[in-house]
Amino acid sequence: MDCINDKFTPIAKILEGKHEGKKVKVRGWVHRERHSAKMAFVVMRDSTGIIQCTLKNEESGAEGAKAGKAASEKKKIFEAATSVYVESSCMLEGIVKKDERAPGGWEIQISNFEIIYKGEPFPIAKDQSTEFLLDTRHLWLRSQKLTKIFKLRHYTMQILREFFDKKEFLSLPPPIITKSACEGGATLFEMDYFGSPAYLTQSGQMYGEVFTTSLENIYVLAPSFRAEPSRTVRHLAEYWHLEPEMAFYNQKMNMDLQEEMLIYLCQNIAKRHPQLLQDVGRNPKDLLKIKGTFERIPYKKAIEKCQSLDLKIEYGQDLGADEEFELTKNLDKPIFIHNHLKAFKAFYMREDESEPGTVLSNDLLAPQGHGEIIGGSERIWDEKELLERMKELNLPLADYQWYVDLRKYGSVPHAGFGLGIERVVKWMLNLEHIRDTIPFPRTINRYYP
Ligand code: 4AD
Ligand code: MG
Repeated sequence: MDCINDKFTPIAKILEGKHEGKKVKVRGWVHRERHSAKMAFVVMRDSTGIIQCTLKNEESGAEGAKAGKAASEKKKIFEAATSVYVESSCMLEGIVKKDERAPGGWEIQISNFEIIYKGEPFPIAKDQSTEFLLDTRHLWLRSQKLTKIFKLRHYTMQILREFFDKKEFLSLPPPIITKSACEGGATLFEMDYFGSPAYLTQSGQMYGEVFTTSLENIYVLAPSFRAEPSRTVRHLAEYWHLEPEMAFYNQKMNMDLQEEMLIYLCQNIAKRHPQLLQDVGRNPKDLLKIKGTFERIPYKKAIEKCQSLDLKIEYGQDLGADEEFELTKNLDKPIFIHNHLKAFKAFYMREDESEPGTVLSNDLLAPQGHGEIIGGSERIWDEKELLERMKELNLPLADYQWYVDLRKYGSVPHAGFGLGIERVVKWMLNLEHIRDTIPFPRTINRYYP
């Protein structure tokens, strides 16, 4: 067999059940292997699935040169199939048979088996510590669980792009290296930029605002960086950030769009990939419940609700993980918290004229305690108002002059939001920890491999 040129059948195709009694060729990696003197069981995997393959050790009693040759051929095949390690790469040929006991209900009875690359015994066995699995992440990514998660991550991004394509939003790349903070100085990663200080971006939003002045409705999709000293199940130092920004949008339109987007995402992922969702531990029915409207609660009401739940939070403080958990743990659908206090929100958020002291902000909290997945707001679009706010916060004008310029020349009302891809995947797949939503998680104590 030639692993490059021969025609191989993807395992998922065989599991569809249309190959019964037919001869197929499969190539991939050994997922599991066990054997006795009489029988070899090799579970093979490729990118599409796993299938059990079996081979009997037929001791040939036949006489004569021809029979002897066939017997030695068979012996060689049995030896190859029983000498592999987990994760050795192999190819095989055999007949597809129905077998209720096999995973997926089908097995291949091997007639030919060749090792492509045997390698060394795979270091990852059952019941390894989390730290060990993170150290060997480059190998652990071959596991069924992570493979399924990353398929779903891909489909999540695909459906989100599809949503914005249908709405004719265009996307442009924001820079990653910046001179100024978007979300405050506390979580900036500083770097040396040819002798001057620069930062890894916390958000592409400000550049997204630039693109609205030419393209009107846009999104930027890029990594954002946060030097978060916290060790939590929902913080990464490097995450993927989807940030739509829309000209001529107000707060209500902004929340309407977020709602429509999440409904489109949940409905489509549940309808298109129910089995994958089930396999990673999320009942697709949970996601089909995400429809209609999401409750919109003003910050002030949210605080009162927290206090009625005996949480120790005062009016004036931002909601934290505990409050977000308590507010959403029994919900089926996300909720918006809006009109936060100007005092603890970002400098660019527009004040609500009808409720001074609050801004036209919104955070979207996922149900079942998964916490904030989106932050958005209407932006200050008046030059004077922006300059005043920057002065109050002592922001260095020189670094932000270009951002002020957007207000100086032909400014229009606009709004936007930022969605953390990993936070959304964590919620949709019902995962315990955000690190499993990104192939190589960067956290406070890890940036290897
Ligand atoms: O609420 P944030 O900080 O808002 C912004 O960055 C705005 N500039 C977005 C905008 O309006 N364009 O971050 C937005 C989202 C959060 O709701 C969360 O989903 C995600 O980014 N996020 C993180 N995800 C993983 N790890 C972290 N450390 C994150 N910090 C924020
Ligand atoms: Mg936020």
